[in-house]
Amino acid sequence: MTTTIAVTSGKGGVGKTTIAVNLALVLAKQNKETLLLDADLGMANAHILLGINPKYSLEDFITENSSLEKVITKTTNNLKFVSGGNAINKLLNLSDLERHKIIKSFNDISKKPDFMIIDVGAGAEASSMTFMASADKVLVVLTGEPTSFIDAYTLIKTSFLDFKMNNFGIIINMAQSPIQAKLNFDKFQSITHKFLDVNLKFVGYIPNSQNVKNSIISRRAVVSSKNNFKETECFNNISTKLSLVETNKTGNIRFFDN
Ligand SMILES: Nc1ncnc2c1ncn2[C@@H]1O[C@H](COP(=O)(O)OP(=O)(O)OP(=O)(O)O)[C@@H](O)[C@H]1O
Ligand SMILES: [Mg+2]
Repeated sequence: MTTTIAVTSGKGGVGKTTIAVNLALVLAKQNKETLLLDADLGMANAHILLGINPKYSLEDFITENSSLEKVITKTTNNLKFVSGGNAINKLLNLSDLERHKIIKSFNDISKKPDFMIIDVGAGAEASSMTFMASADKVLVVLTGEPTSFIDAYTLIKTSFLDFKMNNFGIIINMAQSPIQAKLNFDKFQSITHKFLDVNLKFVGYIPNSQNVKNSIISRRAVVSSKNNFKETECFNNISTKLSLVETNKTGNIRFFDN
């Protein structure tokens, strides 16, 4: 059985890719077969953090009719990767049919992973919403900034009203401290609960950290470092809290039949 987890946000640049890549690596290190899908189509950059240059991407799958297996790249132990490609024009304007073709094709891969982590583009446009609504669980990344709060709220509202998603895991990124992160979550939850009947779970935080910044420059994910960084513990903690986030039953097409 595969659990698919979409990592998303209202506002761009809040750390979705950083979190999706590190979380996928942590799960792989725990001996879970993991597939990371960069679904930020046309503007894919998760491979940069992974420090790899995949030969193929979803662009080949869509335009060349390649099999999905062909565009899956093996990385470290237990982690496979599908790139969303950098052909902005071709991939940003996918039709509903093409998006459905991508989602349905995952069920045909021969060895199903335990987890699939999906790095979804920011905001509530069609492509992001389809990938979110097709995932089992949704993680929303936010920072303590009011703009991030408002955009995350708008994303959750759209997900709830238009796609019947009502379960969301919340990750506070670039937190000043663990206490501040929890306070930010409580504040976000109380605002959201005033208007929407949704179920939010605090699944963890990542500190605002120079180690994370350096990891992106060096193209080596922070959890892959030999140093025992506290950020790795934060990602491990998040991986243990994933089971708290309930599965959304949206009626949308799913990646895997299970
Ligand atoms: N915990 C953190 N501490 C410090 N810097 C961080 C942290 N998380 C992310 N960043 C920085 O924030 C920037 C954006 O991160 P990232 O690319 O992961 O965000 P994103 O949400 O995927 O962006 P986009 O919406 O463009 O896809 C990066 O330069 C990264 O170094
Ligand atoms: Mg990103």
